[in-house]
This record gives sequence, structure tokens and C-alpha cells, in this order.
Amino acid sequence: MPQPPNPFYETFVAPYVFDLLSAAVFGPSSLASLRDRVVDQLMLTSEMRVLELGCGSGAVTRRLVATGAQTVAVDRSGAMLRRARRRAPGADFRLADATAFESAQPFQRVLCMFFLHELDSGERTEVLRRVGRLLTRDGFALVVDVADGGGPARSAWRRFVDSFEPPTVREVMAGALLREAVEAGLQVGDCQRPLDGRVQVIPLRVAP
Ligand SMILES: C[S@@+](CC[C@H](N)C(=O)[O-])C[C@H]1O[C@@H](n2cnc3c(N)ncnc32)[C@H](O)[C@@H]1O
Repeated sequence: MPQPPNPFYETFVAPYVFDLLSAAVFGPSSLASLRDRVVDQLMLTSEMRVLELGCGSGAVTRRLVATGAQTVAVDRSGAMLRRARRRAPGADFRLADATAFESAQPFQRVLCMFFLHELDSGERTEVLRRVGRLLTRDGFALVVDVADGGGPARSAWRRFVDSFEPPTVREVMAGALLREAVEAGLQVGDCQRPLDGRVQVIPLRVAP
């Protein structure tokens, strides 16, 4: 079932609550290092165009802008975008639904960070199909999202995530993104599981 926009994201406190909650979940320094690492992995240069889908409050957007790359950042929440605009004034922000986003100019890089788990399977596959159409042939995308964790704390982590995320998060934690990416015509590269396996980083290219 397509997921209706979460009304929480339209409240003016949403970006501040999101920032506090995400720092509390992963630990502020671990989250900051993850964001730095993801942006490093994109290997951006000032000649490139990068697209961030579901940019939220702009914590990653400002890092993308700092690389010098031309940054387009998309979110369907006006409240989240207001904070993001203040944080990353150099980005080109678009209030839009990622399942319908189009651009006349392609991108060398696309980033989807912690947002696909809010969509149902059909919407996720549609976004991934669009990612394939928006990427240049030599470009790549990174999808970063929650994973089911590892070790003895695994079931506690699952219960914890279940308590505040929509039910679609379970499919993403169980590995649905890999299958959906292939369905969308993308080639999956070597995945990583940082932060004790609680996060998945999936590199994607347009299949030859
Ligand atoms: C959990 S936040 C993540 C923000 C950011 N990527 C980060 O890692 O800090 C998810 C964001 O995705 C946005 N979002 C959810 N569904 C969307 C859609 N279909 N199109 C565009 N944005 C969407 C929400 O409005 C929210 O700002």
C-alpha cells in the first residue's frame, strides 16, 4: 500500500525532533562519521551534479554542498526543507515527491539516505527506477538505510526500530532493497554494514 505522507514531518518541530532522535539512536559522533563516510564514498568533484532524495533537515546536504558539487536536494516535507535551506544555502532544494521526481539534466551521483524505509515496496521500486533514469551511464548511487543489526543486541535493535518507524521498515531491514534494485534494472555493488550491522550501504549502477 502506498504510504501517505507522515503528518509528523509537516510540524515545525519535525526537523529538530528528527535531528535529536537520529543522534540518540546511533550516537552523535557515530552518525556524524557515517555521514562523512557516505559523502567521501560518493567521491564528488566540483564538476559533478549530485541528487539527494529525501534530504530531510539537510545534515547530509550541507556536506554535499561543501564538496563543491552542484547539489539538488528533494523532500516532500516543507517543514524539513525550511531547516535544510538554512543549513545548506548552496543547494538547489525542490519540494517534490521522490516517486514522481524528474530532471532534464542527469546526475553523476544520487544519494537516498534513511528515507526509502518510509515507502512501500512499489514506491521504493519506482524511486529506484527513477534513480536509474536520472544517473549518467558512468555514475552511481548510494542507498543508505537501516539494517537488522548483528550480534546479541539484534532482537533488541529490531524491537526498538519497530517502535518508532512505519511497518515498511521491516521489509527494508530484511533485505528488500537488494531485490527491488535489481527489479528496477540496477546493478548492485559490494554492500557494507557499518555501525554494528545496523546500517546498510548499497552501491548501485545502471545495469549494462
Ligand atoms: C528519516 S528522514 C531522513 C533525512 C535525511 N536523508 C537524513 O539522512 O538525515 C526521511 C525524509 O524523507 C522524506 N520523504 C519520505 N517520503 C518521501 C517521498 N516520497 N518523497 C520525498 N521525500 C520523502 C521525509 O519528508 C523526511 O524528510
